Amino acid sequence: MAVREILTVPDARLKLVSKPVEAVDDALRALMDDMVETMYEADGIGLAAIQVGVDKRVIVMDLSDDRDDPKYYVNPVITPLTEDLKPYQEGCLSVPDVFDDVERPVRVKVEYLDYDGEPREEIAEDLFAVCIQHEMDHLEGVVFIDYLSKLKRDRAVKKVQKLVRHRAAAE
Ligand code: NI
Repeated sequence: MAVREILTVPDARLKLVSKPVEAVDDALRALMDDMVETMYEADGIGLAAIQVGVDKRVIVMDLSDDRDDPKYYVNPVITPLTEDLKPYQEGCLSVPDVFDDVERPVRVKVEYLDYDGEPREEIAEDLFAVCIQHEMDHLEGVVFIDYLSKLKRDRAVKKVQKLVRHRAAAE
């Protein structure tokens, strides 16, 4: 396993629409293992493959308190189960240090393949629903700041660029 570099906005790759996975094989599991390690190292709760520069429809998440329960979502499909929307203050490893409210359906169905390639279906609510929809957006080339006003979005990108410059200078 290896920690991979996380792309940050405005990296153009974050705008790509990710491609369906054709086979859940050892190579894909190696990618998913790296993604989990990268997510833990960055102290995140979710990560999409495109955030490490791989345009495949793969998401990893861990919402457990002890950070020892990684979940794997391959080729996920999400169906909203309600029209009720709720705002939640979101953040993103590709937009470090920026947090803002995004409204999303509070309950969705998630259909996907798991780590072993087995088809699964779950109902997601609360933080799980927020997170899976946020990660799903990444697979469509959408980052949460795309929901904000242009002013806020531009400000967020500038803040991230400054942070990345500082990090690079500190290395
Ligand atoms: Ni994100």
